[in-house]
Amino acid sequence: MTASGLLADIADVGRDRTRGGYSRHVFDTAELDLREWFAGEARRRGLDLEQDRNGNLWAWWGGPGPDAVVTGSHLDSVPGGGAFDGPLGVVSALSAVDIMRERGVTPAKPLAVVVFGEEEGGRFGVPCLGSRLSTGSLPAEKALRLRDPDGVTFADAARRSGLDPERIGADPELVGRIGRFVELHVEQGRGLVDLGGPVAVGSTVIAHGRWRLTFAGQGNHAGATPMDDRRDPMLPAAETVAAVRRIAASAPATRATVGRLAPNPGGTNVIASTVDVWLDARGPDVPSVVRDVEAAARAAAEAEGCTVELREESWSDEVVFDPALRDELSAELGDVPALPTGAGHDAAVLSAHVPAAMLYVRNPTGVSHAPEEFAEASDVDAGAEALATVLARLSR
Ligand code: GLV
Ligand code: MN
Ligand code: MN
Repeated sequence: MTASGLLADIADVGRDRTRGGYSRHVFDTAELDLREWFAGEARRRGLDLEQDRNGNLWAWWGGPGPDAVVTGSHLDSVPGGGAFDGPLGVVSALSAVDIMRERGVTPAKPLAVVVFGEEEGGRFGVPCLGSRLSTGSLPAEKALRLRDPDGVTFADAARRSGLDPERIGADPELVGRIGRFVELHVEQGRGLVDLGGPVAVGSTVIAHGRWRLTFAGQGNHAGATPMDDRRDPMLPAAETVAAVRRIAASAPATRATVGRLAPNPGGTNVIASTVDVWLDARGPDVPSVVRDVEAAARAAAEAEGCTVELREESWSDEVVFDPALRDELSAELGDVPALPTGAGHDAAVLSAHVPAAMLYVRNPTGVSHAPEEFAEASDVDAGAEALATVLARLSR
């Protein structure tokens, strides 16, 4: 089946009527429905499905084994995200199996299609949670204690979805099976639009991390509290949002964002008692940018008689994808260009353990993490053809 046809099959799952786009978060109804759908597609192709100890799904063509060629992506989304970020890599992998069979290719090596859990960190805050756990780059104890916005721990959510929290954690045997990993993904920028082709290979992934700043003041009555008698944490929070933009703008290769801010208790007629502000910062100068943001936040908090606490929630070093694998894929596809990205991926997590590569599919809007994210059906299908071509080569 074509990748665009498979994408159309899941187009109604997890639509977010409030925000627009899709909200599919790990182990929520929409994401579980997509896992069911994936299991059905694996069955239909005679692939052997297994869920690993961290909730990632593996569909094996030829049975699990060493030196496997693995491809796939994720089915979760950011809140109100696009239709392509994640699912495109999964439908393209399934379609690539079909294309290889139509071409009469039988892989000599085991081949697997994988769906990683919580790639966006949209529910528990740490991106690439599934691949970080399997590779051991995130300790299980830390993951089990993560909480979603409703206070549910990852341990409880995992248990409710049939996983054993005692077994969550590094899985060297599973990772040891992977010979090479290729993730196809919608491009999250305009690189391919400007280059005029449908497919590129990945070169680098920017260093990136997330921090939470908690401002604390005195909750109080909006009408009964004089303006000169307030300790309102919303003030330093707002000043910090502006400081993030200012500080990042003076560090040229830096991208820093506050996309989420939560006042507690969050009432129109209530001075907040605390405000959480999440900072996403990316680029080579992030350590000094975060230090400057923290200093600005502290000064703003003190001026309002408030306090602030900063905690790192995740960190990923810059990744340079395996140059030999990158060049091999590019050559196989007719010397397609190599593009850097400012987005994080499971392929980047895996690249510390196995040779990993990425294929990007043209996105005419250049927009991602928003409903306007897009790829033409013909480009989606060209991506799946390209993936089939490189998988056939790697699995010989
Ligand atoms: C995931 O797409 C990220 O880069 O945050
Ligand atoms: Mn994403
Ligand atoms: Mn993604």
